[in-house]
Amino acid sequence: MMSSSNSINPHLDLFEEIERMKRSLNAVVLAHYYQDPDIQDVADFIGDSLQLAQQAAKTEAEVIVFCGVHFMAETAKILNPNKTVLLPDPNAGCSLADGCPPEAFARFVARHPGHFVVSYVNCSAGVKALSDVIVTSSNAKRIIERIPREQPILFAPDQHLGRYVMRETGRDMVLWPGSCQVHELFSEKKLLLLKAKHPEAQIIAHPECEASVLALADFIGSTRGLLDYVVASAARSFIVATEPGIIHQMKRACPPEKLFIAAPPTSSCACNECPHMRLNTLEKLYLSMKLGRPSLEVEPALREAAKKPIDLMLSWS
Ligand code: 13P
Ligand code: SF4
Repeated sequence: MMSSSNSINPHLDLFEEIERMKRSLNAVVLAHYYQDPDIQDVADFIGDSLQLAQQAAKTEAEVIVFCGVHFMAETAKILNPNKTVLLPDPNAGCSLADGCPPEAFARFVARHPGHFVVSYVNCSAGVKALSDVIVTSSNAKRIIERIPREQPILFAPDQHLGRYVMRETGRDMVLWPGSCQVHELFSEKKLLLLKAKHPEAQIIAHPECEASVLALADFIGSTRGLLDYVVASAARSFIVATEPGIIHQMKRACPPEKLFIAAPPTSSCACNECPHMRLNTLEKLYLSMKLGRPSLEVEPALREAAKKPIDLMLSWS
């Protein structure tokens, strides 16, 4: 019987095979902190969305295997038009990016003439092309502070990150009403119940959470910011209000006595895992490298327009 190109020999050690293909393809595997632990273990570089964009901008590898979601791989392709950028599962989207279609966003921008358009990197190339500068959760505050105070600002697509940055900087901004389906599930009530069970634990949260959740947090930061915080903190236990994939690196970076408790969503399911990030698996990563697909393509005019605000972000970071 002929084996299909998509079938995987069950006797293969996928970790070894991926290492071998990295060398033969001159490939680098970049992974976000929300990826499955197996993918994080095989990655050459693990980071938050800013670090991944910076890494993609400077890599000398010919092939970038991007283990994250579509907008992240698309950003890597915009920065590297002549390289092959593979995304193990092409359906790995993002509720923030999907909830801000470029046509509707163009109308929103047109309704706010004279506004400087700041877009969170969690958006499509079409939305980036309509933006003046891109931000991530780790540099949003710094970048907003560089914009002259008298300049009106429009911020998209995450209203919760936008509101957090408004509070931190004292700036008023027009907000696109988007949100992350994962971070929106964390509830104030459940967090308080968890805190009552672990009164000594510190609550740490990603700024995509709602304001009522952020109000309970001892520390707010990007995925990388949260990781750095637990390493440096003298506290011994942490309630982690973000996608629990990051806990894999927290455990690796900290002594075993530090305890990490994944914050509960509103019900007793595993829906604090990002369903898009988790579409990538070690098997799909292996197959994408073996088959050289699915690879990202961005049409040249769109790429040029979307690259400008990304370049500005990188130069301001
Ligand atoms: P970071 O910027 O912290 O990597 O966050 C990306 C993201 O998608 C959070 O949901
Ligand atoms: Fe998008 Fe939320 Fe998933 Fe991050 S966690 S990729 S913002 S859906």
